[in-house]
This record gives sequence, C-alpha cells and structure tokens, in this order.
Amino acid sequence: MIIARTLQELRDAREALGPVGLVPTMGALHEGHLALIAAARVAGQPAAASIFVNPTQFGPKEDFNHYPRDEAGDLAKLESAGCALVWMPSVEVMYPPHGATTIHVNGPAQHWEGAARPGHFAGVATVVAKLFGQVRPEAAYFGEKDWQQVQVVSRMVADLHLPVRIVPVPTVRENNGLAMSSRNAYLTPEERKAAPILHAALTHAAKEIVAGKQVAETLHHARHEVAQAGIIPDYIALVHAETLDPIPALTHPARLIAAAKLGRVRLLDNIPV
Ligand code: PAJ
Repeated sequence: MIIARTLQELRDAREALGPVGLVPTMGALHEGHLALIAAARVAGQPAAASIFVNPTQFGPKEDFNHYPRDEAGDLAKLESAGCALVWMPSVEVMYPPHGATTIHVNGPAQHWEGAARPGHFAGVATVVAKLFGQVRPEAAYFGEKDWQQVQVVSRMVADLHLPVRIVPVPTVRENNGLAMSSRNAYLTPEERKAAPILHAALTHAAKEIVAGKQVAETLHHARHEVAQAGIIPDYIALVHAETLDPIPALTHPARLIAAAKLGRVRLLDNIPV
C-alpha cells in the first residue's frame, strides 16, 4: 500500500497504478468506509482512499478540532482491506495560500443538511472537486448513508462535466439497524441503546407509506416515535431521491431522510421507499 502525503508522491503513485477507484474519507474508519473500498475492488480497479478532515465543511460551532482521528488504525484497516493507495494531504496542500476558488452548490444542496449546516455542502463540493483533480479517479465511491451528499456530488459532476463515475454504496449498519458513523464514537452506552430507534421509525414509516397511508400523518407519527425515545428529530421527510425536494405523496424515485439529535451526535439516516 502506497502512502502519499505530497502532490509529487501522489503523481508518482498514480503513474504506477493506472485507473483507480477513489474512496474519499475523513478517517476514523469503520466498516461503512471499508465497504466502499470493497466496492471499488470488486469493480476490478485498484482502490485509492483519501483521508482528509476537511475544515471547510465544518461550521464554526462544529467538531472540527475534536473530530476523531486515528491515523495508525486507519492505515492498518486500509492495508487489510486491500487498498492500493492512501492520499493524506495536509491542510496546506489542499488549500494553498491565495486560493480563491470554491464550488457553490444549489439544487439538492439547499434543504435539509444544507439548511442546518450553512456552507457545509460548499465545503464538501470544493474538497471533492479538488480530490478528483488530484487523484483523477475513473470512479469514486460514496456511501448512501449520506444520501444528500451523494446527490450533491452527482449534480456537481454532471454540471461541471467532470470525467468521473459516481458509484453509491448501500449503508452499512450495526445488527440493531443503527447506521455506522465515525461520530457514533461520541454516543454514551445509554444513547447507543436509543439510537437504533431512528432507523426503526424510518422502516416503519416507509412500510406505511407504501401501504397507502397518508404521508404527512405518517411522518408526524415517526417524529413522535423518535422523540419518545429521547432523540430530538430535526427532520424526517419524504423527498424526491435526486432533487431532495419534499414530496407530499409517494412518487418515484423517493427517499425517506432523517436527521435527529442524540446527546452530542447528529444522527443521519435514510432509506428507499
Ligand atoms: P466521511 O464521513 O468520513 O465518510 C466517507 C464516506 O464513507 C462517505 O461517502 C460516507 O457516506 C461513507 N460512509 C460513512 N458511513 C457509512 C456507512 N455506515 N455505510 C456506508 N457508507 C458510509 O463523507 C465524508 O467523510 C466527507 O464529507 C467527504 C466526502 C470525505 C468530503 O470531505
């Protein structure tokens, strides 16, 4: 496994490897991330992972300084997952002095996480565009766990005609249904017990909607169910799967998306309907 920390090291590694599948991450890797590496490898290309905790996608009151970091553990996991290349740029490499270009995203970036976290998707889109320029992958793998992020990145790639194929990978969950996330490390043992209720409420709501129950009423009920468990729902919504616009009744393609606060953690989840 090659570890590149400078643009020159990355260039040398890329020449040796040929077309690669890129898995962008912020580290603190878990099985969800490793499923993306596995998907890249199954597609028959060497997998390249990036580890970069991107300051521009964190709000001023968010956890950038405390975001979990575990370089040695991450590299060991990537090595055993069969990753061929790890790109680990510093903040100075990623954001050179006098940098003046950012990517502004609308459309699918407007609602939900975009509204709750102003500037978040501009930060994501900008760093992902930079990663594509640096690594020049043939394909890039993103987790459906962050459904809105997948749509924002897909929109950007289509709008800017970037020569990369975006591949969404299904969410990896704990046995109890909780979507794996690096930030789950912040949950107390008590909160860990409550956390799976978000996914259970979504699954239940999806069944009801498919069975023809009124959407607004079903979503209201789901919010109530989650709140009863001590989880504070921010949104639980039925949306068009690509535009992320809310839809009042079931049309296709649709997605149920949710964000809710549990202790220090903003739980995110979504499922197809
Ligand atoms: P990060 O949160 O580290 O996630 C990296 C990738 O792993 C994302 O595509 C995310 O959707 C995916 N992922 C996380 N948990 C998952 C799970 N349980 N199942 C499947 N995939 C999962 O998302 C980011 O980093 C950043 O915004 C990034 C795209 C790297 C840009 O900075």
